[in-house]
Amino acid sequence: MNQKEYIEKNKDRFLDELVEWLKIPSVSADSKHKEDVKKAAEFARQSLLKAGVDNAEICETAGHPIVYGEKLIDSSLPTVLVYGHYDVQPPDPLDLWNSPPFEPMIKDGKIYARGSSDDKGQVYMHVKALETMVNTNTLTCNIKFMIEGEEEVGSDNLGIFVSENKEKLKADVILISDTSIINNETPSITAGLRGLSYMEVEVVGPNRDLHSGVYGGAVNNPLNVLCEMIAKLKDEDGKITIPGFYDKVQELTKEERELMAKQPFDIHDYKSDLGVEDVFGEKGYSTIERTGIRPTLDVNGIWGGYIGEGAKTVLPSKASAKISMRLVPNQDTDEIADLFSNHFKSLAPKSVKVKVTKHHGGQPVVTDIYSSAFLAASEAFKEAWGKEPIPTREGGSIPIVALFREKLGLDSVLLGFGLDSDALHSPNEHYGLFNFYKGIETISLFYKYFKG
Ligand code: BES
Ligand code: ZN
Repeated sequence: MNQKEYIEKNKDRFLDELVEWLKIPSVSADSKHKEDVKKAAEFARQSLLKAGVDNAEICETAGHPIVYGEKLIDSSLPTVLVYGHYDVQPPDPLDLWNSPPFEPMIKDGKIYARGSSDDKGQVYMHVKALETMVNTNTLTCNIKFMIEGEEEVGSDNLGIFVSENKEKLKADVILISDTSIINNETPSITAGLRGLSYMEVEVVGPNRDLHSGVYGGAVNNPLNVLCEMIAKLKDEDGKITIPGFYDKVQELTKEERELMAKQPFDIHDYKSDLGVEDVFGEKGYSTIERTGIRPTLDVNGIWGGYIGEGAKTVLPSKASAKISMRLVPNQDTDEIADLFSNHFKSLAPKSVKVKVTKHHGGQPVVTDIYSSAFLAASEAFKEAWGKEPIPTREGGSIPIVALFREKLGLDSVLLGFGLDSDALHSPNEHYGLFNFYKGIETISLFYKYFKG
């Protein structure tokens, strides 16, 4: 039996197994799911063992565990380190889901569940690719798996694990499926991800909440101030106004931008998919460029004052916001956090105090599109999809990719099979069954072409 026949013959079981994994609510951000996260890790370990690794272990960390497994067949063959994550984003707001997030539902050729595309569904393709290769006698590389449970909360403990286990993690390349393709007719390989600086700000005014009639007009309202300060962070052209913010941004050449513009993209479809009349972004750049090669700044959450039912006439004593900045080469996450912090504080009037803290972040990455691993991935796509994949730059972040390069000296191949429309981090997240099976096929072929 060849690989394709094996996948076809076992496809229903592959999906049933994934469904079981998706039922476990491994929400890393929420401590009440700590045991579920553990359960999902154990499920991953068992799955690896069943797929044919020689050994698989749970590696405890200060946070959620890392699952490590390996199948070493011949030390003279190249070694591939597969990275992915089994943790998922919180499913809220629950009332917007058409079916419960942890009761996977198959509808119209897609599997609906939190984590279906990001990232359990994509990790499981690697587990089933291993099983396929083992059972068809086509495994031509050593494989190591490192599947973590803290990607969605910044991978802090994975950084430590990597630094402490350099020998164990020795490999020739890292293979990751946690990104998207352009669409199912246009395969692509992600060649760049944005970095991230995630900030929290607090504006404090009077020492207590005040009656908005008694004091309104005489005391600066922290919520008003916060909104004014945030409004000053971008101008009407969508440019970020923080001094020095763009200083290190790598500009693309005219030729590189022309190549990007050739990527299939329909602005009408884009707008109608999102239900917006118009798009918005930095003047002078296309939508693909705005998410791929340009940095941004966005409020992710804002709160303060009264938000309960009805009306309460109150001047809040404080107001807060969470603000993310997506970064591009060669911006540095710590440097940008400092620039933000200094600038934001400088915007504050004397009537309030401002506190700025940095949450997790990560460096931007571009991968080498001429490396032997990238070319092997291209060959795998050509054979499985009958089309040459296009290299793309994506807007999301996988902070650990830059760290792999720094700590292990290893490049990653971002061989993801999701779609931007998979509703990652949103209600009704889903993953196409076509993408799941085609992914298993493509990944299995990668090993055939990868010669180290
Ligand atoms: N899988 C995503 C990243 C992604 C999504 C890359 C789509 C490319 C296309 C990943 O799980 C994720 O969401 N990462 C976080 C990182 C953060 C929590 C440090 C992100 O981008 O917000
Ligand atoms: Zn992910």
